[in-house]
Amino acid sequence: MRHSDFPIFTTHPNLAYLDTAATAQVPYVVLDAVMQFETTMRANVHRSVYLLADAATEAYESARREIAVFIGAAEHEVSFVPSVTYGMHMVAEMIGERLQSGDSVLVTAMEHHSVLLPWRHVVGKRGAMVSTIPMHDDYRLDMDALAIMLRQNVKVVVVTAASNVLGTVNPIADIVRLAHKAGALVVVDAAQYVPHLPLNIPVWGADVVVFSGHKLYGPMGIGVMYIAEHLGRTFTPSVQGGGMVVDVRRGQSVWEDAPWKFEAGTPNVSGVVGLSAAMRYVKNVGYAAITEHEENLTRELIVGLLSLRGIRIIGPDNINERIGVVSFTVPNVHPHDIATLMGSDGVAIRAGHHCVQPLVEEIDRRGVCRASLGGYSTTEDVARCIESLDRARKTLL
Ligand SMILES: Cc1ncc(COP(=O)(O)O)c(C=O)c1O
Repeated sequence: MRHSDFPIFTTHPNLAYLDTAATAQVPYVVLDAVMQFETTMRANVHRSVYLLADAATEAYESARREIAVFIGAAEHEVSFVPSVTYGMHMVAEMIGERLQSGDSVLVTAMEHHSVLLPWRHVVGKRGAMVSTIPMHDDYRLDMDALAIMLRQNVKVVVVTAASNVLGTVNPIADIVRLAHKAGALVVVDAAQYVPHLPLNIPVWGADVVVFSGHKLYGPMGIGVMYIAEHLGRTFTPSVQGGGMVVDVRRGQSVWEDAPWKFEAGTPNVSGVVGLSAAMRYVKNVGYAAITEHEENLTRELIVGLLSLRGIRIIGPDNINERIGVVSFTVPNVHPHDIATLMGSDGVAIRAGHHCVQPLVEEIDRRGVCRASLGGYSTTEDVARCIESLDRARKTLL
């Protein structure tokens, strides 16, 4: 990926953007695709029969086809949601209907609030229980503990594919194998995984996978909810309204088939068109190139951080078991003070609990700093991050 592909680096030439885990920057090709839809095809989809509406519907459905191919799913297994937050709420409600008192849902300690809270909510309503899969000291999941926990009436395992705090990449295919053997469903949050590593639905074999477009160089307000056919067919939609029914009579409604039954209301059509353009862009650059580039920069970042006395890096030591999301603590200074001073140098990092408060508070009550990389990040960005951090901590001490 080249800086020149992304307008933000022209409008902010002094920006060292190291907050891609919060949201990725968006390339011209995505903006062009959105502009083209809005200026030449804008109409509502699946509702009208005039030519413009046909063009809009075709743009929407052909984007769905492209996105399905990109992740190795069937078209009817791909529905569009505003984000992981919304998709996870919908899924938790739909699976939650099947939970009973005494059932158990397993989560990891690294789940984002957008995942943890919907499940807590649903499980609480059903009188079921949420338990947390333990981690080893190096922040990898304890798979032996998981195997034992799965013996205890577990109905669902909810797991992030890659942590937005630790950078840990979890072994989803292994988790799915264990969980399915125990009769449990697996729901995956792939928000931090898809920007860095290729998502291949059949390789994982998970029942549900949700991710947001804005972390994958796409527009904000659009996400993908993959629901395996066996569930999609039987779920009662948790959000109901226009566009997802074929027949509504007094006291009775007949849903559309999947995926449309999960898309109540006017969808974010330009968001879907933009997301498919983002995926095409990523595919053209190639995941192999992105991964290699980010791995090299992650190594540079970690080496640079370790060269500063007292900095503690949080997450797996092995570079092959993490993405380019590097959280760290600086002794005796508040993470927000560090991020503020670095921000005034034009270096954008994030500080705080990163919406994973239970885990981060165990690491440091005040929160942690996080530098996160994207395919457009450069060696210069990393060098500026280290220089700026060094200056900030000297100023603050
Ligand atoms: C691991 C993870 N899951 C879920 C989310 C929530 O995504 P969204 O805000 O797009 O709903 C995030 C966002 O930071 C995340 O990092």
